[in-house]
Amino acid sequence: MSIFSWMDFKVLGDERGQLVALEGNNNIPFDIKRVYYLTGTKPGVPRGFHAHKELDQVAICVTGKCRMIMDSGYEKEEAWLNSSTKGLRIRKMIWHEMHDFSEDCVLMVLASDIYDESDYIRQYSQFVEMVKNA
Ligand code: TYD
Repeated sequence: MSIFSWMDFKVLGDERGQLVALEGNNNIPFDIKRVYYLTGTKPGVPRGFHAHKELDQVAICVTGKCRMIMDSGYEKEEAWLNSSTKGLRIRKMIWHEMHDFSEDCVLMVLASDIYDESDYIRQYSQFVEMVKNA
């Protein structure tokens, strides 16, 4: 099974442009408790490098692009986020890294909970150990 799980959002478009609606427990598979977004990112400056113990997330590249690496502890895959109508699910216990941001990138993330630093695993060796012991 692929680590990557994509969601295709319905586009409500007309001659005025496109509109995408995201609803918790509907086309987003959890109650949305937080939204954050990355802007002003730099092509040579990667971000992420962590996994979450419990948090479920969906990432949407609203503008521009970036390359996402996801790692289950057993397998690693990568893909480009470059569509405002596709969401990438970042499940709990998936190590993720964002690379090669375009300068115009706006990466929006919907999260199942508020920010909690104790939910982060920021050390890769600790992540692998937790996966193997699960
Ligand atoms: P960080 O997790 O390092 O960002 P990234 O994973 O994109 O590299 O977060 C940067 C800072 O912002 C860090 O001090 C934690 C803080 N932060 C919040 O306060 N709330 C949030 O919702 C997020 C995602 C981060």
